[in-house]
Amino acid sequence: MPSFAERLIDWQLGHGRRDLPWQQSNDPYRVWLAEIMLQQTQVATVIGYYTRFLERFRNLDELAAAPVEDVMALWSGLGYYARARNLHAAARAVMLQHGGRFPRDPAALTRLPGIGRSTANAIAVFCFGARAPILDGNVKRLLCRYLGIHGLPGTSSVDSRLWQEAAALLPARQVATYIQAQMDMGATLCTRRQPRCTTCPVADRCVAHLEHRVAELPTPRPKKTLPERTVTLLILRAENHVLLETRPPAGIWGGLVSLPELPEGAEVTTFCATRLGVRVGAVLPAPTFTHAFTHFRLRIQPLLCMATAQPRLAEPQLRWIGMDALAQAALPAPVRSILASI
Ligand code: ADE
Repeated sequence: MPSFAERLIDWQLGHGRRDLPWQQSNDPYRVWLAEIMLQQTQVATVIGYYTRFLERFRNLDELAAAPVEDVMALWSGLGYYARARNLHAAARAVMLQHGGRFPRDPAALTRLPGIGRSTANAIAVFCFGARAPILDGNVKRLLCRYLGIHGLPGTSSVDSRLWQEAAALLPARQVATYIQAQMDMGATLCTRRQPRCTTCPVADRCVAHLEHRVAELPTPRPKKTLPERTVTLLILRAENHVLLETRPPAGIWGGLVSLPELPEGAEVTTFCATRLGVRVGAVLPAPTFTHAFTHFRLRIQPLLCMATAQPRLAEPQLRWIGMDALAQAALPAPVRSILASI
């Protein structure tokens, strides 16, 4: 009887994805970039970002040499911006510590910023022919169902069991095809809702399927209602320019360019005059909306403030940007949509 791995490899050769842009190469720069983008974002969203990124930064040297702001600008809208900061830091580390070549050893890869055990193993498998398991969210779901593993993925006891099982299931050969099969099955068959068990190549041995517990596994995270924060963002307009502020590296939207925030309890015209050095006339509230982060929800109140002039700015993190230059700015998605609406 064919093994789990043999069935996955067979399935991959007939039904897996083979035309994704990062599958056309085993260049570690290209594979690494794809794996980082795919950590928290779906394939369909990643493709456009990936292509634009590679047009601008064709190789590791170009990425390492660029200012981090340019990297943030290309990541704008993709979310989880620590990935972009780490990507840039890792590019510089590979240049400085490894002579511009990615280390082949997964343990050395995990010492680079933003590369965890699963990403390191994926790079080593796809680029260097390593025999190592991966364990991203899709693979955890697949293995929890196939092996009937209860308990919360992400907790150390469940994850260490999953790593053991994932290592034990590895085939001797065709590891890259097998790993890609796990990713593709997790994304297209063994989905969180409405998995396609009727076309699954391992359904006849899947514990969750045989015991009618597919909907219960993996054990769902207990739902908690996310705390909500409120923020007022100032759209300071002077003719066809708007005032933007580079955010400090730590905290939400770190390193991105955003609209200045009105501190709680501050009065808007006084704040603009005394803290930003800008006199404003009319102030018009725009519709509020909510943006969801992983750990909280942010209720955003934009205020359109008409500046009476476009003064020189004292603070280096503040600058006037022409409306026609907004497309290239490193704006978070909600700020981009506020600006598009005015
Ligand atoms: N998800 C994570 N890595 C992936 C890859 N290389 N191909 C498709 N989906 C993925």
